[in-house]
Amino acid sequence: MNIALLRVSNLRCFESLDFAPGPGVNWLVGANGTGKTTLLEAAYLLSHGRSFRAGGRSAPARHGAPGFTIYAELQGRRRGVHRLGLTRREDRWQARMDGVDLVTLAPLFEACPVVCFGPESLSLILGPAEERRNFLDWSVFHVEHESLEIWRRWRRGLRQRNSLLRANAADSMFEPWEHDLAVLAERIHRMRGECLASLEPFLVEEASWLVPELGHVQVAYRPGWNEASGLAAELASQRRRDREHGYTQRGPHRADWMLHFSRISQREHLSRGQAKAIALVCALAQVRWLEKHTGEYPLLCLDDLSSELDEDHATKVVAWLTGKPLQSWLTATSRPRQGDSRAQMFHVEHVGLSQA
Ligand SMILES: Nc1ncnc2c1ncn2[C@@H]1O[C@H](COP(=O)(O)OP(=O)(O)OP(=O)(O)O)[C@@H](O)[C@H]1O
Ligand SMILES: [Mg+2]
Repeated sequence: MNIALLRVSNLRCFESLDFAPGPGVNWLVGANGTGKTTLLEAAYLLSHGRSFRAGGRSAPARHGAPGFTIYAELQGRRRGVHRLGLTRREDRWQARMDGVDLVTLAPLFEACPVVCFGPESLSLILGPAEERRNFLDWSVFHVEHESLEIWRRWRRGLRQRNSLLRANAADSMFEPWEHDLAVLAERIHRMRGECLASLEPFLVEEASWLVPELGHVQVAYRPGWNEASGLAAELASQRRRDREHGYTQRGPHRADWMLHFSRISQREHLSRGQAKAIALVCALAQVRWLEKHTGEYPLLCLDDLSSELDEDHATKVVAWLTGKPLQSWLTATSRPRQGDSRAQMFHVEHVGLSQA
């Protein structure tokens, strides 16, 4: 999937800007604060409905503007040509695809998969489990679209159980909800497990050339409850403790997965650079996994690669991109040394964008 045209209006520093990248490697070069990351953020918003920056869901509208709009023209090998529009105004999303208003953002996420790696990606390795669940669930969504509906039902059931806990309701009131929650949790667990199992060979392969110094990698996954007893039994046995806390402590909302490397005994021993390189392994594996499972590469955005990684790693990554039928957007504050005559170069300035 390529973005042939991206048009942003009132997004952060941009009042209005058109960006027409090429199908391969695109460099966005400019001084600090000119809006390079904002362009990557615009693409990410289309594919996730939130930003990768801190405060994810808060709207990054331009100061003084009531909201922002992102418009994109996509060219997919398998999915064909689509026009997407996403507007955020008064804390509400409005989405359009090919001239038709959408009820949910899901068709946008499906049509426009974007994988981003940047300073925030460190939290995928060193941050809370929620970051890793989001990574996994976004991948799951691209092969199991109904996962969004399953999650919606899970959240509804969870809210219901939490209010029963806080209201100190009778045990009999919990049973139907806990039964439904256990069924939904099993489906989420199965989808996540299958997704991680199919992702694992890609993680192993990308780690073997990007971080060979860390040794062999294995994926570990915790579903968020004791599989042997089953979630329904565990929710029942945990009820007294859950009443004390006022919320449900077991379930897929407490799941986690992580990568274990044979030469690193615990993740606290990773340097920040090593953790970043591992986050990049995850991003590249996800890109290849999506290509295999959806028939198309996503757009890959790499924000400020040279300040995130040492030169050796950064050079390897740029070489990895070259020659793949994959659109990538890379940002840098100065013209990159890694030469590829086919790469497109754009200068981002406070006044806008120009092609070199
Ligand atoms: N809501 C907003 N309204 C107006 N301007 C904003 C808003 N949010 C951020 N900005 C400005 O937008 C500009 C673009 O920020 P962005 O992070 O995209 O720059 P960048 O080119 O990636 O910089 P760096 O090289 O430092 O990473 C910055 O100058 C920032 O101050
Ligand atoms: Mg930036």
